Amino acid sequence: MLIRYETPADIDAIHDLTSIAFAPMPYSAGTEAEIIRRLRTSGDLTISLVAEEEGEILGHVAFSPVTIDGVHDGWFGLGPISVRPERQRQGIGKALIAKGLGLLEEMGASGCALIGNPEVYRGAGFCSDGRLSYHDLDTRLVQHIVLHGPAPSGTLRFAPAFDS
Ligand SMILES: CC(C)(COP(=O)(O)OP(=O)(O)OC[C@H]1O[C@@H](n2cnc3c(N)ncnc32)[C@H](O)[C@@H]1OP(=O)(O)O)[C@@H](O)C(=O)NCCC(=O)NCCS
Repeated sequence: MLIRYETPADIDAIHDLTSIAFAPMPYSAGTEAEIIRRLRTSGDLTISLVAEEEGEILGHVAFSPVTIDGVHDGWFGLGPISVRPERQRQGIGKALIAKGLGLLEEMGASGCALIGNPEVYRGAGFCSDGRLSYHDLDTRLVQHIVLHGPAPSGTLRFAPAFDS
């Protein structure tokens, strides 16, 4: 399996994969594939990686700038992330995350934040200390990993592409 940057030829496959992976999820608004398109258009798709095997796209992850208390300060958001349903729980998501975090670190990013199930992201090094918040969501779902500098504290905001 190869983890690589997206190319223009992957755009439709990423859209389809994201729609299929999120469709059964009760927390999905059904807008994740469209969010990726909007991030790309607005120039906020900082990193977009695909997992490819024998020419097939099995997984995708997006990273985009976020603000904490209105300031960017080198923090990025992870997501949407998707793996083909029949290939989930085989380490593909973890490999996409590890590659993306490595690239963020090389860029000198301060860190990465996300909203999600702690069980999925803990193994990749994400944690929650309750000091990063997102609307009125349980802060255990608001996770981060520090790459350089201090731990984040404040209100997390994703790129405008996430606003429906
Ligand atoms: C979330 C998702 C991207 C994870 O990808 P994956 O390839 O299945 O994940 P991996 O096999 O690499 O597992 C990564 C970790 O998540 C855990 N995990 C995976 N799916 C899980 C689930 N449904 N519930 C709890 N833990 C889960 C694994 O046990 C593993 O933990 P570890 O690092 O402690 O060993 C994938 O399940 C998916 O596409 N889901 C649908 C879309 C979605 O919900 N995206 C995330 C929104 S927050």
